[in-house]
Amino acid sequence: MKVSPSLLSANFADLAPALEMINSSEADYLHLDVMDGVFVPNISFGFPVIKAVSKVCTKPLDVHLMIVQPQNWISQVRDCGAEFMCFHLEACTHIHRTVQAIRQAGMKPGISICPATPVSLLEDIIEDVDQVLVMSVNPGFGGQKFIDSSVKKVRQLREMIDSSASSAIIEVDGGVNEQTGSILAEAGADMVVAGNFVFTAPDPLVAIRSLRAL
Ligand code: DX5
Ligand code: ZN
Repeated sequence: MKVSPSLLSANFADLAPALEMINSSEADYLHLDVMDGVFVPNISFGFPVIKAVSKVCTKPLDVHLMIVQPQNWISQVRDCGAEFMCFHLEACTHIHRTVQAIRQAGMKPGISICPATPVSLLEDIIEDVDQVLVMSVNPGFGGQKFIDSSVKKVRQLREMIDSSASSAIIEVDGGVNEQTGSILAEAGADMVVAGNFVFTAPDPLVAIRSLRAL
């Protein structure tokens, strides 16, 4: 299992130790949650912070936009050096156009779906994206409880991807720990995001390793 620790659970008053920990860990990516207070009922951090983080972080960046009109921010995300730019299906009208624009900007496009959004809505875009981010909590906050019906969605998505020409990875975000992570691995997830589980662990490096081993 690939692991993308979420910076949202780090100490915002002192990010350097968190980034040093991530750099020295077995993490595959660093997950960055951008919230606008409109699409989700919270505001996190924006592109100046991500740009500063990108100068210190040695892991590729996995940017998760929880904002309306994500198509307006493609060049800003690109300038932060992101590998994945993921936006919400529920927050964008012209999904196909936005996916193409993200790829044209040199990034890997990802689409995220909230817990109540059916996987079937991805059918006509699945071959154009490199990542599907299944939200296993309602987006906006770290430390929430995993929603069990997400597992069924991961299975449906695995089937959709495997029976198409898509090579998109399935990433799951929210309430991931060793228990939920192992269920997700069995259901066919390729990557998990982990905020609280990593940053409240007695040893975050061990927590990351335990998820990677799933
Ligand atoms: C929530 C964010 C998540 C969050 C996950 O809206 O998208 O990435 O950081 O946090 P945990 O792992 O604590 O649920
Ligand atoms: Zn996220």
